[in-house]
Amino acid sequence: MKKKIALTGIKPTGIPHLGNYLGAIKPAIELTKNYDALYFIADYHAVNSIRDAKILREMIYEVAATWLACGLDPEKTVLYQQSAIPETFELSTFLMAFTPKGLMNRAHAYKAMVQKNTLNKKDVDDGVNIGLFTYPILMAADILQFDSDVVPVGGDQAQHLEMAIDIAQSINHNYGTELLKIPQPLIRKNTGIVTGLDGRKMSKSYDNTIPLFLPPKKLRKLIMKIVTNSQTIDEPKNPDECNVFALYKLFADENQISEMRQKYEAGGMGWGHAKQELFELINAHLSPYRDKYNELMQNKNYIDKILEDGSVRAREIVVQKMKFIRQNIGLFSK
Ligand code: ADP
Ligand code: TRP
Repeated sequence: MKKKIALTGIKPTGIPHLGNYLGAIKPAIELTKNYDALYFIADYHAVNSIRDAKILREMIYEVAATWLACGLDPEKTVLYQQSAIPETFELSTFLMAFTPKGLMNRAHAYKAMVQKNTLNKKDVDDGVNIGLFTYPILMAADILQFDSDVVPVGGDQAQHLEMAIDIAQSINHNYGTELLKIPQPLIRKNTGIVTGLDGRKMSKSYDNTIPLFLPPKKLRKLIMKIVTNSQTIDEPKNPDECNVFALYKLFADENQISEMRQKYEAGGMGWGHAKQELFELINAHLSPYRDKYNELMQNKNYIDKILEDGSVRAREIVVQKMKFIRQNIGLFSK
């Protein structure tokens, strides 16, 4: 029997961080055991914010190397670059014809810009480009072009996936046939939203991230910056309200979690100590991946080859799908 398809993308906007790893990369790599997986680097999505050619090029390598370092097997999984499939942008144009502007008005990223502008008494659309406004449509094209069954993402992408489903459903309804497969979001409960240094969602846009492959010294320094309250060493502490514990839980096993919980509740453990334990846990987990990552970043020709090969394989599927769509919407005869 043919396996189901899993698809996800990451924007090359900086070295991936723990949120990307736990919310998207790790679950996505686990899925490759049972699914035909297609994972990609959302480079045209990144152009909305990265306008320096050299930096973008480097960031594409960083994201590709991260996927490979974290265990993606390029023989089994297709790793490709979004921009290498021109048909995605054709599909995106088709989807636009079915996307109400009101739906895009409600997209989180756009709404946040409007709110910020309103607060600052600026024009509501100040600094908003159409690429940002239509971001969810391009993302829908990424997904729908492969008849993807599941899309592993972090909780922050739930709305984008609902929009992709909405658009696909209205197209299917219009043509009276399943022109596009309805995808299913796959959002892990416990790692839905990983918190950053300041307790907000870990995100490159908030500058509160812990990048995956920092050298140990820098990693430790950053972990020491996690915001905690001002309780003294002796005081018992509530682990469930603590940013350090929130991250600790994501890397520790059951025993480690309950031991740490006891240390919090008993009092006598200072924040420096809790952070040191967190550092040791994360560092041990990431060390082997970091070595692999550094090795790959020294071997960009190899990464180029993987991406080229993946892009050819991915495009073959999309070319067929677009042919099917063109015929079924009346652009060409069947
Ligand atoms: P960022 O918000 O830092 O720009 P991206 O938008 O490139 O990150 O996210 C890439 C993937 O990582 C998406 O699947 C997204 O849902 C996931 N992700 C990003 N931040 C987090 C987070 N803090 N917790 C869980 N998943 C996250
Ligand atoms: N929008 C996603 C993010 O910011 C990246 C992305 C682009 C994506 N296209 C996608 C994720 C398709 C899943 C499926 O994280």
